[in-house]
Amino acid sequence: MYIKWLLILLTAVRLARGQPGRCDQTPPMAAATAASENKDIYHLNIIQNDRPMEGKIHYTPDQTYVLKITTSNLTRPFKWFMMTAEDPDVDDKIYEFGAKTLDVGVLKTLDSSETRYSERCFNSVEAAKSTDKSDIEIHWVSPKQSEVKDHKVRIRVTVAENNEAWYEGENLTLVLYKDNKKSPDSPPYPPRKTCNLCSEARYEVIFNGKWSRVAHPRFYPSKPDENGYSHMIGASHGYDYYLWLQGSSAGMGIKDLAETNNTTLLEDDIIANMKEKSGTRTLIRGKRRHHPHMAKPSHALFRVDRYHHMFSIAVGMRPSPDWFLGTSRFELCTDHGWLLESERPMYPWDAGTMNGVSYESEPTLTKPVDTIERVEIGSFNKDSPFYQMNLNDLKAFAMLTVRRLDVYPLPNSECTVEGEEQQPGEVEEEPVEEGDKEDEEEPEEPVVGESRLNLNDPTSCSLSEWGSWSPCTPVDDVCGDGFRTRARYRGDRTTKHESFDYQVTQQARPLSTNCEGDQDAKLVEYQNCFVDCYKIARLQ
Ligand SMILES: *[C@@H]1O[C@H](CO)[C@@H](O)[C@H](O)[C@H]1NC(C)=O
Ligand SMILES: *[C@@H]1O[C@H](CO)[C@@H](O)[C@H](O)[C@H]1NC(C)=O
Ligand SMILES: *[C@@H]1O[C@H](CO)[C@@H](O)[C@H](O)[C@H]1NC(C)=O
Ligand SMILES: *[C@@H]1O[C@H](CO)[C@@H](O)[C@H](O)[C@H]1NC(C)=O
Repeated sequence: MYIKWLLILLTAVRLARGQPGRCDQTPPMAAATAASENKDIYHLNIIQNDRPMEGKIHYTPDQTYVLKITTSNLTRPFKWFMMTAEDPDVDDKIYEFGAKTLDVGVLKTLDSSETRYSERCFNSVEAAKSTDKSDIEIHWVSPKQSEVKDHKVRIRVTVAENNEAWYEGENLTLVLYKDNKKSPDSPPYPPRKTCNLCSEARYEVIFNGKWSRVAHPRFYPSKPDENGYSHMIGASHGYDYYLWLQGSSAGMGIKDLAETNNTTLLEDDIIANMKEKSGTRTLIRGKRRHHPHMAKPSHALFRVDRYHHMFSIAVGMRPSPDWFLGTSRFELCTDHGWLLESERPMYPWDAGTMNGVSYESEPTLTKPVDTIERVEIGSFNKDSPFYQMNLNDLKAFAMLTVRRLDVYPLPNSECTVEGEEQQPGEVEEEPVEEGDKEDEEEPEEPVVGESRLNLNDPTSCSLSEWGSWSPCTPVDDVCGDGFRTRARYRGDRTTKHESFDYQVTQQARPLSTNCEGDQDAKLVEYQNCFVDCYKIARLQ
């Protein structure tokens, strides 16, 4: 409910730039006050694969479409036109101040000498000069992905043949219906404000890179040796935290990750937002993959709880102006418990900080900074790798798998909703024993990303005992030579079985800046190790 209202509000704020209402498209030069009869001469069509789409037309959100006005008799060109994208209900709607306005998408002029934005009406373009035209093309970027079902947009056109005759109505008006199928990369559940699950869960997230010359031949980078993905960075977090969001401007962390492959700021932001009952919980950090190992998975573990029940990640793409792959606010808390497993394709997002249509285009600063949007898929720019492509035909740039590994029930006392008394006489759940709790701490758990560290606590200067060694992680991912790590903490921590995840600790930073003396004390140690490939083969 909240989400819906928020969306409606946001849409209203975005679009309420003046008085909505039906646009009067009467040509300025018209001598006649009424339109003439269009005897099958002038047509408006939406073009796909060089052909007009027919029947009930469905659009996919966030896509670019070509709208074409044509005359079927070349001896009867048109001199003027006007095209408006509008709410089909505009005819009989009485607008009140602040009323909800529909996202009708954006009309784009291609040739500014031929077409311009109308000064008379919103969301309208018109002829810039009255020369004879046999056809004209306008691009329409469909409305953004939203929760709104049954979304309809009407494209209405008026053409003027001369000062006497102008046309509108049938064959010059199209109603486009939203395809309610979710985009293939959207998470299975929308984010929820609260999660009442009385347990914690541990998840594995795996990023499988799929960007390749075979799958994405158009403008595939000329120097593939320099191709790569950044580290996979993200967090499990609460409803209040945003790593990135379509339609909002990118933070400095996402900007750095997308423009270069530097993930430092993004990690710092996640760590700085670690809070017990909001913000972030686990820092997700997977290996970065560089040519020729781009198809190797990058994986990480993280934990969720009722305060941090969703996750977001981002992976930078090199080379690219400012593109990244990722998922935002992926909800794991469902009415049936913690989501078991889900796999989603990933398509590039544009951080909106740099301009550039292709992987290797010379990037230029975007001013003012744009919001995060999909890389223009279905673009009509011939230099784009996604030239005239439909999102459904575009091959995934990565597959993201998230898989639940364990669920840890919480003792009832930790689970009562604040302000809500426990019902008397309710059956108590078995208390979880201390010992069990310690066993839960898997050695490879990325504990450094956990939220319960108090960075300003002066006791966090003392060093803990070393934790146990992590399992051997082969460099090659499966078997062979590898390394393992163990870690210790700065601070008065009592848990003995905790250890850092190797991926996280490769860049462990000192956690407290207030400590004197042992500032440089090692927090992580590495050891070489070996995983027997034979043994693994036998097990499989
Ligand atoms: C609209 O187009 C159809 C199909 O081309 C045609 O049969 C019909 O007469 C046209 N209507 C008008 C008003 O032009
Ligand atoms: C095209 O328009 C001209 C001028 O009105 C007319 O003479 C001609 O018959 C039309 N052609 C067709 C194919 O309708
Ligand atoms: C990412 O940055 C590091 C250090 O700046 C560099 O060594 C590496 O090659 C870069 N990776 C890619 C894929 O650009
Ligand atoms: C990454 O960014 C941080 C913060 O802006 C900076 O201190 C660091 O030097 C950068 N690393 C590289 C390899 O450029």
